[in-house]
Amino acid sequence: MKIAIGADHGGFALKEVLKNFLKKKGHKVMDVGAHRLEPGDDYPEFSALVARQIMEKKAERGILVCGSGVGASVAANKFPGVRAALCHDIFSAHQGVEDDNINVLCLGQRVVGEELAKELAVRFVEAKFSGAERHLRRLDEIEKIESRYIKTEGAGRKQ
Ligand code: RB5
Repeated sequence: MKIAIGADHGGFALKEVLKNFLKKKGHKVMDVGAHRLEPGDDYPEFSALVARQIMEKKAERGILVCGSGVGASVAANKFPGVRAALCHDIFSAHQGVEDDNINVLCLGQRVVGEELAKELAVRFVEAKFSGAERHLRRLDEIEKIESRYIKTEGAGRKQ
Protein backbone atom coordinates (compact mmCIF):
# COMPACT_ATOMS: atom_id res chain seq x y z
CA MET A 1 0.00 0.00 0.00
CA LYS A 2 1.11 3.57 -0.69
CA ILE A 3 1.31 5.39 2.64
CA ALA A 4 2.20 9.04 3.22
CA ILE A 5 3.78 9.71 6.60
CA GLY A 6 4.64 12.98 8.29
CA ALA A 7 5.50 14.44 11.67
CA ASP A 8 6.56 17.61 13.41
CA HIS A 9 9.33 17.69 16.02
CA GLY A 10 6.94 16.20 18.59
CA GLY A 11 6.50 13.08 16.48
CA PHE A 12 9.71 12.93 14.50
CA ALA A 13 11.35 9.97 16.26
CA LEU A 14 8.23 7.79 16.13
CA LYS A 15 7.68 8.71 12.49
CA GLU A 16 11.15 7.39 11.68
CA VAL A 17 10.41 4.13 13.53
CA LEU A 18 7.07 3.64 11.77
CA LYS A 19 8.47 4.53 8.36
CA ASN A 20 11.18 1.88 8.60
CA PHE A 21 8.78 -0.65 10.11
CA LEU A 22 6.17 -0.25 7.37
CA LYS A 23 8.80 -0.31 4.63
CA LYS A 24 10.09 -3.61 5.97
CA LYS A 25 6.52 -4.92 5.77
CA GLY A 26 6.56 -4.17 2.04
CA HIS A 27 4.64 -0.89 1.94
CA LYS A 28 5.63 2.07 -0.23
CA VAL A 29 6.09 4.79 2.37
CA MET A 30 6.38 8.41 1.25
CA ASP A 31 7.94 10.54 3.96
CA VAL A 32 6.70 14.11 3.52
CA GLY A 33 8.82 15.37 6.41
CA ALA A 34 10.04 16.64 8.68
CA HIS A 35 13.26 15.26 7.28
CA ARG A 36 15.25 16.25 10.33
CA LEU A 37 14.44 17.06 13.92
CA GLU A 38 13.67 20.76 13.94
CA PRO A 39 12.36 21.92 17.35
CA GLY A 40 10.74 25.02 15.86
CA ASP A 41 8.63 23.34 13.20
CA ASP A 42 4.81 23.32 13.27
CA TYR A 43 2.49 20.34 12.80
CA PRO A 44 -0.01 21.96 10.35
CA GLU A 45 2.65 21.96 7.62
CA PHE A 46 2.99 18.18 7.81
CA SER A 47 -0.73 17.58 8.12
CA ALA A 48 -1.15 19.57 4.92
CA LEU A 49 1.56 17.61 3.12
CA VAL A 50 0.03 14.25 4.06
CA ALA A 51 -3.47 15.53 3.26
CA ARG A 52 -2.38 16.62 -0.22
CA GLN A 53 -1.04 13.14 -0.91
CA ILE A 54 -4.44 11.71 -0.02
CA MET A 55 -6.41 14.32 -1.95
CA GLU A 56 -4.25 13.88 -5.06
CA LYS A 57 -4.56 10.09 -4.73
CA LYS A 58 -0.79 9.71 -4.53
CA ALA A 59 -1.27 7.82 -1.26
CA GLU A 60 -4.07 5.51 -0.17
CA ARG A 61 -3.53 6.12 3.53
CA GLY A 62 -1.67 8.61 5.68
CA ILE A 63 -0.05 8.53 9.09
CA LEU A 64 0.65 11.68 11.08
CA VAL A 65 2.59 11.88 14.31
CA CYS A 66 2.89 14.87 16.60
CA GLY A 67 3.38 15.09 20.33
CA SER A 68 -0.18 14.20 21.24
CA GLY A 69 -1.66 13.43 17.80
CA VAL A 70 -4.32 16.05 18.50
CA GLY A 71 -3.01 19.02 16.54
CA ALA A 72 -2.09 16.88 13.55
CA SER A 73 -5.62 15.44 13.40
CA VAL A 74 -7.32 18.83 13.75
CA ALA A 75 -5.27 20.25 10.87
CA ALA A 76 -5.64 17.21 8.61
CA ASN A 77 -9.42 17.23 8.95
CA LYS A 78 -9.60 20.68 7.36
CA PHE A 79 -8.86 19.08 3.98
CA PRO A 80 -11.79 17.82 1.90
CA GLY A 81 -11.87 14.05 1.61
CA VAL A 82 -9.45 13.58 4.48
CA ARG A 83 -10.85 11.64 7.42
CA ALA A 84 -8.18 11.71 10.09
CA ALA A 85 -8.54 10.18 13.53
CA LEU A 86 -6.43 10.00 16.63
CA CYS A 87 -6.47 6.31 17.58
CA HIS A 88 -4.46 5.10 20.52
CA ASP A 89 -6.36 1.85 20.93
CA ILE A 90 -6.41 -1.13 18.60
CA PHE A 91 -10.19 -1.25 18.23
CA SER A 92 -10.44 2.32 16.95
CA ALA A 93 -7.46 1.91 14.64
CA HIS A 94 -9.20 -0.77 12.56
CA GLN A 95 -12.85 0.02 13.25
CA GLY A 96 -12.25 3.62 12.19
CA VAL A 97 -11.44 2.29 8.72
CA GLU A 98 -14.11 -0.41 8.64
CA ASP A 99 -16.99 1.86 9.63
CA ASP A 100 -15.86 5.44 9.08
CA ASN A 101 -13.40 4.96 6.23
CA ILE A 102 -10.70 6.99 7.92
CA ASN A 103 -7.74 7.48 5.64
CA VAL A 104 -5.30 9.15 8.04
CA LEU A 105 -4.18 7.72 11.37
CA CYS A 106 -2.86 10.25 13.89
CA LEU A 107 -0.60 9.25 16.75
CA GLY A 108 1.02 11.00 19.68
CA GLN A 109 4.65 10.18 20.28
CA ARG A 110 4.36 11.48 23.84
CA VAL A 111 1.43 9.16 24.52
CA VAL A 112 2.06 5.76 22.94
CA GLY A 113 5.13 3.54 23.00
CA GLU A 114 6.81 2.27 19.84
CA GLU A 115 5.42 -1.25 19.98
CA LEU A 116 1.83 -0.12 20.42
CA ALA A 117 2.31 2.45 17.66
CA LYS A 118 3.53 -0.27 15.28
CA GLU A 119 0.51 -2.42 16.10
CA LEU A 120 -1.86 0.52 15.63
CA ALA A 121 -0.27 1.31 12.27
CA VAL A 122 -0.57 -2.28 11.05
CA ARG A 123 -4.20 -2.63 12.14
CA PHE A 124 -5.02 0.69 10.47
CA VAL A 125 -3.24 -0.16 7.22
CA GLU A 126 -4.67 -3.68 6.97
CA ALA A 127 -8.27 -2.68 7.72
CA LYS A 128 -10.78 -2.26 4.90
CA PHE A 129 -13.91 -0.12 4.70
CA SER A 130 -17.02 -2.32 4.97
CA GLY A 131 -19.01 -0.38 2.38
CA ALA A 132 -22.16 -0.99 4.43
CA GLU A 133 -25.11 1.16 3.45
CA ARG A 134 -25.41 2.86 6.84
CA HIS A 135 -21.76 3.84 6.76
CA LEU A 136 -22.01 5.14 3.21
CA ARG A 137 -25.02 7.17 4.27
CA ARG A 138 -23.05 8.75 7.11
CA LEU A 139 -20.12 9.49 4.82
CA ASP A 140 -22.54 11.15 2.41
CA GLU A 141 -23.68 13.37 5.27
CA ILE A 142 -20.07 14.31 5.97
CA GLU A 143 -19.55 15.13 2.29
CA LYS A 144 -22.57 17.40 2.42
CA ILE A 145 -21.04 19.23 5.37
CA GLU A 146 -17.79 19.59 3.44
CA SER A 147 -19.62 20.89 0.36
CA ARG A 148 -21.48 23.43 2.43
CA TYR A 149 -18.69 24.70 4.65
CA ILE A 150 -15.42 23.98 2.87
CA LYS A 151 -15.09 26.07 -0.26
CA THR A 152 -12.64 23.97 -2.24
CA GLU A 153 -12.76 20.81 -4.28
CA GLY A 154 -13.46 17.60 -2.39
CA ALA A 155 -11.73 14.30 -2.86
CA GLY A 156 -14.73 12.08 -2.13
CA ARG A 157 -15.33 9.16 0.18
CA LYS A 158 -14.23 6.42 -2.16
CA GLN A 159 -10.55 7.12 -2.28
C1 RB5 B 1 4.62 20.39 19.67
O1 RB5 B 1 5.39 20.70 20.77
C2 RB5 B 1 3.29 19.79 20.04
O2 RB5 B 1 2.44 20.78 20.53
C3 RB5 B 1 2.68 19.11 18.86
O3 RB5 B 1 3.53 18.13 18.40
C4 RB5 B 1 1.36 18.40 19.09
O4 RB5 B 1 1.37 17.67 20.27
C5 RB5 B 1 0.15 19.21 18.98
O5 RB5 B 1 -0.97 18.70 19.10
